Amino acid sequence: MVNISAQNLGIAIEGNSVFENVTLECGPGVMMALTGPSGCGKSTLLNALGLVLPPSVGDVLVDGVSTKNWSDKQRFAFWKQHAAFIYQDYGVIEAETLSFNITLGGQLKSATYQRPEEVLEIVGLQSREKEHASVLSGGEKQRLGIARAMYKDSHVLFADEPTASLDPANRDMIIELLRLATARGMSVIVATHDDYLAQACPQKYRLP
Ligand SMILES: Nc1ncnc2c1ncn2[C@@H]1O[C@H](COP(=O)(O)OP(=O)(O)OP(=O)(O)O)[C@@H](O)[C@H]1O
Ligand SMILES: [Mg+2]
Repeated sequence: MVNISAQNLGIAIEGNSVFENVTLECGPGVMMALTGPSGCGKSTLLNALGLVLPPSVGDVLVDGVSTKNWSDKQRFAFWKQHAAFIYQDYGVIEAETLSFNITLGGQLKSATYQRPEEVLEIVGLQSREKEHASVLSGGEKQRLGIARAMYKDSHVLFADEPTASLDPANRDMIIELLRLATARGMSVIVATHDDYLAQACPQKYRLP
């Protein structure tokens, strides 16, 4: 289980402030939405919390420990051991099968699941493990990303607009899966402009 927090976090890109003074916390079993108008910095904040983007000021803490002086090696270890990322148009290896996408060709071993089929069933992609990811719809790709996060036993899930351009049925399915992941103790942080998803998140952080 992992706790992610930000203390007076600020990001400036090319001298322009994207946001400043963000203080928040997302712990195990918490589902948090980062909300606000387009361009306010939701994706940027998500990347900073995921240690993808270094802060300009302030700090991101993992389990209360400052990451300010973390080496690349420490950040890689965090991504490998704890984190999963779901981006709208990213993260699925189109030319490979669903099974390959779950286990990254056997590189990932799950402590919880014996076989990738088990997580594919949870997300409603059962009996499709041999298909190429390129044939999946947008919503199915998002579900594949969640299945991989579960298989990997990730402790924190960073999702950027996971319900964007989905119909209501697929959107509801994603929300239910995020709830399930949260109920299992994951810390789930989503950047979203989807009011429906934001409403489903008990914790919200609104950027101006
Ligand atoms: N690499 C970059 N170079 C220059 N500007 C950037 C970069 N990344 C983000 N920005 C700027 O930072 C601001 C916030 O962008 P960001 O993508 O975080 O917004 P957002 O809230 O996720 O928007 P949306 O709802 O449209 O996804 C924007 O003005 C954007 O142009
Ligand atoms: Mg965005």
